[in-house]
Amino acid sequence: MSSRVKLNISDTPLNPANMPQHVAIIMDGNGRWAHARGQRRREGHFQGYLALKDTVYATDDLKIPYLTVYGFSSENWRRPSEEVHGLMDLMATAIHAELDELMENDIRVRVQGRLHEIPEHTRLAFAEAVERTSANARLTFTLAINYGGRAEIVDSVKQLAIQLQSGALTADAVTEELISKNLYWPDHPDPDLLIRTAGEKRLSNFLLWETAYSEIHITPTLWPDFNAQSLIIAISDYQSRVRKFGAVLEA
Ligand code: FPP
Repeated sequence: MSSRVKLNISDTPLNPANMPQHVAIIMDGNGRWAHARGQRRREGHFQGYLALKDTVYATDDLKIPYLTVYGFSSENWRRPSEEVHGLMDLMATAIHAELDELMENDIRVRVQGRLHEIPEHTRLAFAEAVERTSANARLTFTLAINYGGRAEIVDSVKQLAIQLQSGALTADAVTEELISKNLYWPDHPDPDLLIRTAGEKRLSNFLLWETAYSEIHITPTLWPDFNAQSLIIAISDYQSRVRKFGAVLEA
């Protein structure tokens, strides 16, 4: 069993009645973190893995049911091959090493993206984690790998096109709801809160459809330095927002 100290909502300034149900994170700044220390980028990614581990358990302690993080974007193939393979190896090793603890904590692992294009050992490591944790019922932790928001919409529309072609669907029946239902994980609620680290102010093709009404929190903290306290600050920021979903507030 892990000796991790559990975080309790009542020990934080957070309002337990207004917690986000789905937090999404663009983990950025691993390279800058390493560069600032004269280390190689892979050291930054390794520290990023440790920060992700802390964040997963902090999210679970705060009783948030969904966490989705951007592990590898469909544009990240443009990086040097050594870095791409290093990241694929790290993800495979990490998910394998963490599996027992994820099971002990009733955490369900999911992946989303074009998984058929990633190296086989990484795909198999995740397939095992997804399979073994599929009946777990606390936090659903989803890693986006070889993921692109536009590609996800294209893949959804392709499913609808097949049904249109076969006559099972008419053009009039295509609605936002139907596109949502054909996304990678239609049972996930849309993220309430999107966090981006390292100060960049971009969506970078992450969850484009699902973040239509997400509140966005941008922090200068580099991902390897992100921790439970950073998550609490992001959620406090979220709780200070008034969400109107395009409507006006009643007096
Ligand atoms: C962004 O930093 C981070 C990534 C491209 C990868 C995210 C990966 C991890 C957090 C590590 C491992 C994940 C798992 C699941 C074990 P960057 O390299 O773009 O940083 P920079 O913009 O400062 O160069």
